[in-house]
Amino acid sequence: MHSISPIAYTPACETVRKDEADAIRTLQDAFASSAGELAEARGHACRAVHAKGHALLRGTLTVPGSLPAQYAQGLFAQPGSYAVLLRWSSPPAGQLPDSISTPRAVALKVIGVPGERLDASRPGHSQDFLLVNAPAFALPDPQSLLPARALLPASAEGFETGKKLLSSVLRTVEGAIEALGGSSVKVKGIGGEPQRHPLGETYYSQTPFLYGPYMAKFALAPVSDSLLALRGAPLDNGDDAQREALAAHFARQGGEWELRAQLCTDLDQMPVEDASREWPEALSPYVAVARLVVQPQQSWDPVVSPRLEDETAFDPWNCVAAHRPLGAINRARSEVMRTSREVRSNFNRCPIHEPPTC
Ligand code: HEM
Repeated sequence: MHSISPIAYTPACETVRKDEADAIRTLQDAFASSAGELAEARGHACRAVHAKGHALLRGTLTVPGSLPAQYAQGLFAQPGSYAVLLRWSSPPAGQLPDSISTPRAVALKVIGVPGERLDASRPGHSQDFLLVNAPAFALPDPQSLLPARALLPASAEGFETGKKLLSSVLRTVEGAIEALGGSSVKVKGIGGEPQRHPLGETYYSQTPFLYGPYMAKFALAPVSDSLLALRGAPLDNGDDAQREALAAHFARQGGEWELRAQLCTDLDQMPVEDASREWPEALSPYVAVARLVVQPQQSWDPVVSPRLEDETAFDPWNCVAAHRPLGAINRARSEVMRTSREVRSNFNRCPIHEPPTC
């Protein structure tokens, strides 16, 4: 294996800019009012983003006993097997038809993880990983998201006009990036996300996390033949093409993935505060630290799954202390995601809770 020297985390690895708290508050207000207005219009509150769930599945994550010392940290310090809840989704706020192809996402809730909790006041025992099929976030920090908050739909009308909404999203975000002198190539890619099967994709945390004494990004990569056969496989253009493709696959087959960690070895080229910077794999490769196995099963039940959507939340801050989220984008999403959970839990009168440990 490639030999690397990971950097130990110190508080100096993170820098909070003076205008960060104001930017986060503005984002929080924008998400709260958009989510509230949409809930009123639809009579039901969904997640403020990643609203459309495509599959809810059960799996098992196994941590091997043979990891090199640098990688045997936190959840990965001891060998063990954990039940996992998985949710596939797409980022927009609306239940858009899948013919408008946007990035694919998967969230993992690893259940019954031992170890000191990050937030002792928050009951829980799970470790969540939120992953999207691109190695970096579109924007560096919450301040640069501010011009893009206008993208949030504020009415049922805006919500339903999917294509118009998406193109306005793209125009706004592109504008935000270009105004900052950056390249909007990545964002231009969003609307034209290739219409590919979600099970052939590799998913990334995009932002960094503590990894015991070190810092790391995570990735989930398909490794079983049944999934590798779907790399780049096309999807049709149906309204629920992703849900149907996932259901067709898991009705007959399962899948295996590697959960991988990329340790930070160079703070200049692998920055903590700029989520738009992909960490070079030449400096530190993604290394398998656990294996996720999902057996064939029903991936979407028209009665049970919508209820589970409402009762459940995934959040990178729902974690053990050894995997605390790092950097500005993570600090911002902590507040905004809490707001989104409060809106949907209050509006739907449905408390959000953790799944039982067995
Ligand atoms: C400041 C930046 C971000 C903001 C404001 C934000 C906001 C949100 C919100 C409000 C939700 C819905 C929470 C709920 O109601 O349960 C959510 C879900 C999600 N976010 Fe983000 N997010 C940000 C960055 C990211 C990044 C960098 C990723 C990269 C992996 C990501 C991946 C996801 C995923 C996969 C979900 C769906 C979780 C689920 O299945 O329940 N987000 N985000």
